[in-house]
Parts: sequence; structure tokens; C-alpha cells
Amino acid sequence: MSAIKITEKVFYVGAKHPERRIFDELISLPDGTTYNSYLVTGSLKTALIDTVDPAMKDFLFKNLKRAGAGKIDYIISNHAEQDHSGCIPFVLQANPGAKVVTNEKCAAMLKDFTMVTDENLMIIKDGDTLSLGDKTLEFILTPWVHWPETMSTYLREDEILFSCDLFGSHYSPSDIMAGEHFYLPAKRYFAEIMCPFRNNVRNNIAKLEKFKIKTICPSHGFVHTSPEGIINAYKKWAADDVKNEVILAYVSMHDSTKKMAEYLRDALEEKGITVNYFDIPVSDLGEIAMMMVDSATVIIGGSTVLAGLHPAAQNLIYVANALRPKTKFVSFITSFGWGEKASEVIKANLTNFKAEVLSPVISKGWPKEEQFKELDRLANDIAEKHRAIGVLK
Ligand SMILES: Cc1cc2nc3c(=O)[nH]c(=O)nc-3n(C[C@H](O)[C@H](O)[C@H](O)COP(=O)(O)O)c2cc1C
Repeated sequence: MSAIKITEKVFYVGAKHPERRIFDELISLPDGTTYNSYLVTGSLKTALIDTVDPAMKDFLFKNLKRAGAGKIDYIISNHAEQDHSGCIPFVLQANPGAKVVTNEKCAAMLKDFTMVTDENLMIIKDGDTLSLGDKTLEFILTPWVHWPETMSTYLREDEILFSCDLFGSHYSPSDIMAGEHFYLPAKRYFAEIMCPFRNNVRNNIAKLEKFKIKTICPSHGFVHTSPEGIINAYKKWAADDVKNEVILAYVSMHDSTKKMAEYLRDALEEKGITVNYFDIPVSDLGEIAMMMVDSATVIIGGSTVLAGLHPAAQNLIYVANALRPKTKFVSFITSFGWGEKASEVIKANLTNFKAEVLSPVISKGWPKEEQFKELDRLANDIAEKHRAIGVLK
């Protein structure tokens, strides 16, 4: 991707990474990602807003050249994570005397992660401004929209918000400016990165909305030239509202749990409830996380294995629990051979769910008439609960 002009004095100089398939060795990236870095050229000084992952260093320097960048005076670091900060030392090396401008918490992290030293740093506080001559940068601390040090930078004259991870997406589009396609990649990103910090997201959006924002330039994926779309989507995802949807995610070795899952899916669908159905071992965890953003109910299915829960289901509930979804109801369906343990493990590991636990269905071996009756009861319970919160008419 070459340098792209966003406004007369603002250039995208980041790097595409379409072939990257995993992030943090945890999150799958079906559409790759980008590391967005922006150059702001004022009449007196030039600032670079965030850098790129060190693996993509050469693209950053190529794009700086293409954008006609002269000497960089300031490197604004909105977030210390290495996919944005990792090239700061190289930019400093190429621009002796440049200052890394960031808040106190981020500065401390940069010293730990990137070997930036005190003499390279310029510490700013919430609301401070930095003049580039005819351009003014204003710093807005937005803690916990990923890490505790995260901040945004606002370019007053152009009404651009450089929001770092907030409003981002792991997507590597041909056209970074095609923000109208943001919805699903941004929702998936919200699920994986922002969901645990829903309340902070809400508070920080309220803080950012005091600014007149024409364009949002995040640090991954699309630039948003119609920011109300992404802001409204974030407000919805971060709010307490849920949809008339159930996530039914199961793992089954010999089809006992699978039979129950299929039966329950059909029973729920007959009642007018949308079921997002996943066979865990062959499903994309990111997609399950995305559905979890606003599903009213989550049902986990998994059998007892070696006196515990099948590890595939265990992995899912570990991640789901860490994401702290706003799910209202949870339950589970399990099968066992001689000593049931799966249900204990599930219950003990959903500690972050502020959800009501509906009575589960447990089968010794293959499900029989009794379990199918119980599955009808569970489907009824879910429908009643969805009616009670007003998502099912
Ligand atoms: C590798 C393995 C380990 C198992 N460990 C246990 C166990 O510790 N306790 C138990 O009650 N059943 C155990 N079982 C039996 C299964 O829980 C039982 O077959 C169950 O019905 C499988 O359900 P599924 O077909 O949905 O996976 C084990 C089965 C396998 C294949």
C-alpha cells in the first residue's frame, strides 16, 4: 500500500499485512490486518502518529518517502503495544532529536518495551496541545480501550481523530478509505479486543463525542470518513441491549452431545429464536466471539473427558469468560459415561458472566426420551426469558 492523502497535510503511511493469519498468537485473522501510521505535516513541525509492527518496518519508511516526509519532529505514541510502537526506535534513529510524545503511563511502557529513554520522551497530560505551526494536536486520554495507557490524538484544524485501536478492525482492504464496509470486521475486532472494556468504551466515546469529528483514523483497518456509522455501532455493541439470539456451541466425540445440540437448535428455531450454531473444534473462535457481543443466551455443549470438560469446550469458555460478554442467560448440555464432571467445570469457569444460569440437560451416554423432554423444557425456558426481556414477541 502506498502513502494515501487523507487531507492536504495528512497522509496514511502505514503498512498492509494481508497474509498475517494470527494475532497475539491467539486471534485468527481471516482478512489479515494493517498497521496504520499517519503523517501530519504542519507549517513548522512534522508529526508521525503511531508506527507499524516491526515486521513491516520497510513499508513505513517507503511510505514516508512517498509522502515526501522531511524530518520528523514528533512521534505521537497513542498506545505502547508493539504493533504500533515497535518501529519507534527506528524512526528515532532516522530522525535524531525527535521526541516521542505520549502520556506518563504509556511512556513507562515504552521504556519497558522499546528501549525508548527519558531523553527521547515528551510527556503530555489529558487535554494538552502541541502546535505544529498551522496544525494543532490535542491529546485525549482514553484509558482501557485496550490497555490502561491508551490515548487518542485529535487534529483540530482537520477535525481528524486518531483513535488507535478504538474503532479499528483487523482487515486488510485494497482501499483503506472504503470505510462503508466496516461493519463485520469492526464488530469482530470489538468482540476480541474491546468487549471486556465495554464500560470504558462507553465512557470514552462520551468524552470523544465532545469533539467535532469529520474523520476517524484508527490504527488497524478502515479509515472512517463517515464516523457516525462506526460510533453508533460501538454505542450499540457497548450498551446492555441484546438480541433474540442464542449461541449454541458444542463439541462431541461420538455424537451424543451433538444429537442434543441439533434437537435444541430445532426447538429454539421453531420458537422464533435465531441460533448461531457452532461445532467448536471446526469453528473460528473469533466468529463465536463476534456473535457473543449481542446474543441474549449462550449454551455450551461438551462431554466429560478424563474427569473434566472436553478441552475444546474448555478453551472456548476460558476465552468467552475473559471477554465478559453481556449475555443474559447461560446453560449447558453435556454427556458422560460413568462420572459426570463437565457441568461442574462449565459452571466454575463462567465467573465473569453476569448471566442467569438456566437448568442444564445432562445425558448418560446417548440422549433418550427423558433428555429430549428436558431439551424441550430448556427451549421453553429460553423463550420465556427472551420474552421477559422483550427481545421475543
Ligand atoms: C477420551 C475419553 C475420555 C473419557 N473420559 C470420561 C470420564 O472421565 N468420565 C466419564 O464419565 N466419561 C468419560 N468418557 C465417556 C464420554 O463422556 C461419553 O462417551 C459421552 O457420552 C461422550 O459424549 P459425546 O459423544 O458428546 O462426546 C470419555 C470418553 C473418551 C472418548
